[in-house]
Amino acid sequence: MTQSKLAVITGGSSGMGFHVAREMARRGNDLVLNARTPDAAAETIRNEFGVRVECVAGSIAEPEVTARIAAAAEAMGGTAALLLNHGGPPVKPLMELTEADWQEAFEMMVQGPLRLLRAIVPQMLARGEGRILAISSFTVKSPYGGIALSNSLRAALVNALKTAALELGPKGILVNALAPGYVETDRTKGWNDAYARAGNTTIEAVRNQTLESIPLRRYGTPEGFARMAALLLSADNDYVSGQQILYDGALITAN
Ligand SMILES: NC(=O)c1ccc[n+]([C@@H]2O[C@H](COP(=O)([O-])OP(=O)(O)OC[C@H]3O[C@@H](n4cnc5c(N)ncnc54)[C@H](OP(=O)(O)O)[C@@H]3O)[C@@H](O)[C@H]2O)c1
Repeated sequence: MTQSKLAVITGGSSGMGFHVAREMARRGNDLVLNARTPDAAAETIRNEFGVRVECVAGSIAEPEVTARIAAAAEAMGGTAALLLNHGGPPVKPLMELTEADWQEAFEMMVQGPLRLLRAIVPQMLARGEGRILAISSFTVKSPYGGIALSNSLRAALVNALKTAALELGPKGILVNALAPGYVETDRTKGWNDAYARAGNTTIEAVRNQTLESIPLRRYGTPEGFARMAALLLSADNDYVSGQQILYDGALITAN
């Protein structure tokens, strides 16, 4: 089997996506790095690891962005590993969500990732192998109130990826989702801040309450998440496919 040499990473300018990109570069992969603003992250990774990083700026929801990502990857010799990631959708009670909210989130969370998968898989077929991973969420298994878009559309993508694993497995392509529980990124810090303000309490109190539901008594780190993701995206993963794996510290969920 050929060693992975090119990883395509979407949602890679910050948070977990950035750390997965960084870890793949540390392992010697060149990158096609997508986000709406990927340039600074790409420069950081180039300086740190000396690998080639091509940026494709734009939303994963846009067909022309898919086309540019696939063309950049083809020009670099074809994709070995694909990470599907993006930001979280709006947080709103189910009864307040409009059809436009659903449509917009569907384009970013289901249509865009699957369009990119269709564009990249032929490059993997040409290599005779490939690894695909999506960043999902523990709430696919245990939906929380207030985040219907995330609960529903991530579940749709995870089941589409399970189908891809069944259909593409015979051709050497392994497909998985890695679902974070509470991983400490700027986004999580923003959430804690918002919860603290809404509940008229402190960020520390919100944090401690969350930690009580995590048997490991600590948040996950983007670096630790990235090591798991890079393993699933590399040839070191020779048999795990069709799974949604939780990176959650054995999180105790409400349901
Ligand atoms: N952190 C957690 O504990 C946690 C838990 C469960 C689920 N999640 C989910 O896991 C994913 C990553 O979380 P995170 O904390 O790493 O988030 P983050 O720090 O907000 O990073 C999101 C990344 O996606 C990019 N992005 C946003 N919209 C995009 C789009 N339409 N097309 C392409 N790239 C886009 C952002 O960069 P630009 O702004 O430059 O586009 C950024 O690089 C999110 O979907 C989040 O909802 C996170």
